[in-house]
Amino acid sequence: MPATVSIHGQWSTRLAFILAATGSAVGLGNIWRFPYIVGDNGGGAFVLVYLACILLIGLPIMMAEILLGRRGRQSPINTMLTVAREEGLSRGWGLMGWIGVLAGFLILSFYSVIAGWALAYVFKSGSGGFIGLDAEGSSEMFGAMLASPEALLAWHTIFMVMTAMVVARGVRSGLERAVTILMPLLVLLLVVLVGYSMAQGEFIAGVQFLFQPDFSALSANAVLLAMGQAFFTLSLGMGAIMVYGSYLSSEASVAKTSGAVVAADTLVALLAGLAIFPILFAAGLSPGQGPGLIFVTLPLAFAEMPMGLYFGTVFFVLLVFAAWTSAISLIEPAVAFLVENLSLTRVFATTLVAMFAWLLGIGALLSLNVWSGYTLFDMGILDLLDYLTANILLPLGGFLIALFVGWRMTERSVQSELRLKLGFVYSLWYFLVRYVAPIAILVVFLRAIGLV
Ligand code: PHE
Repeated sequence: MPATVSIHGQWSTRLAFILAATGSAVGLGNIWRFPYIVGDNGGGAFVLVYLACILLIGLPIMMAEILLGRRGRQSPINTMLTVAREEGLSRGWGLMGWIGVLAGFLILSFYSVIAGWALAYVFKSGSGGFIGLDAEGSSEMFGAMLASPEALLAWHTIFMVMTAMVVARGVRSGLERAVTILMPLLVLLLVVLVGYSMAQGEFIAGVQFLFQPDFSALSANAVLLAMGQAFFTLSLGMGAIMVYGSYLSSEASVAKTSGAVVAADTLVALLAGLAIFPILFAAGLSPGQGPGLIFVTLPLAFAEMPMGLYFGTVFFVLLVFAAWTSAISLIEPAVAFLVENLSLTRVFATTLVAMFAWLLGIGALLSLNVWSGYTLFDMGILDLLDYLTANILLPLGGFLIALFVGWRMTERSVQSELRLKLGFVYSLWYFLVRYVAPIAILVVFLRAIGLV
């Protein structure tokens, strides 16, 4: 008889799970990464491929991850081992859990550095730093921040400590409380920003850039980036959603909860795009700004907006919170594993993981200044970590999950855990998990390395 509750605790309600999973999904990936990758890859066509990846690969894999987590009720590594054993399958499937723990650790290291930028901008905005800013001044301000390893280190450290503090407190009192109030506020503020960009920005140009596809601008590599972004933004392929699923009560509907999380995540990304591009075009900046995109454009809006000082400060505070609720889900799989297997206390396990991620993060932040001369495939440490995790490790993890649920578990166990009525939705999902998702991931991989 599989366990019905995890030793780490359980969400108090289904809504708490939705909020936590949304908290994990909505983060820097939506507001920082999505706009700049869209900007770098020419807009509309990229967005379309991204949306297709969300629906055809992301949503079905999210359901598969939640289903596995709830069935195994442990950290991703032990969940995979347990479910594989119960299904009479190889212990080798535990590898999926290990890839996830590794990916989470690598993502956290650079995630914390970028979240540090957002923290820095809270104070820049609050102290009136955006007042009277023009496009050039905004770029200079961002550049000056990147050039200072001390400042980056300080913010990176503060963010990592914040993250560890919540995770150390455990599922209910820590994770759940943080998301309940903050997520809705973030959406509200994004809507305010979109309102501003409608009134003051080149709104039509922004909408066209986001939604008018020009497929000639789309390279094979861009398709890989769009798929990677889909995994990254939904927190898929590394066990974060799986471990959250392991704290979900057995009654909740996996399909409905996944749908809600995916819809919320996509909405936030599109709102961020709608807020940013019109402001960018109005300021005469090019969309290909790279990772600095929102840090260069949004201050321009806040510089001119009535009460921009307050809106700017609140916006970056909420961005920090969005990043925070994602970062806690990045360490959770590793922490749960250490608690289960080495009987470490939660506090100690969290400290350990956060410390190592923090160290690697220092390498990432130095790659922005002191070590900027060292590159591999033209990328510094931060870019490499980002590329490797989002575009390779996460889709690889997702691929294994799809194979496991679609091909290795018996359909009977899948059905009994999913508790969907056996109608159209179920058949569609099963088809996507078995065929569409794994084949699509494989083809995108092979194309990116030039094999098909
Ligand atoms: N989904 C988060 C974001 O968009 C990042 C993340 C990735 C979190 C993977 C957990 C796991 O910011």
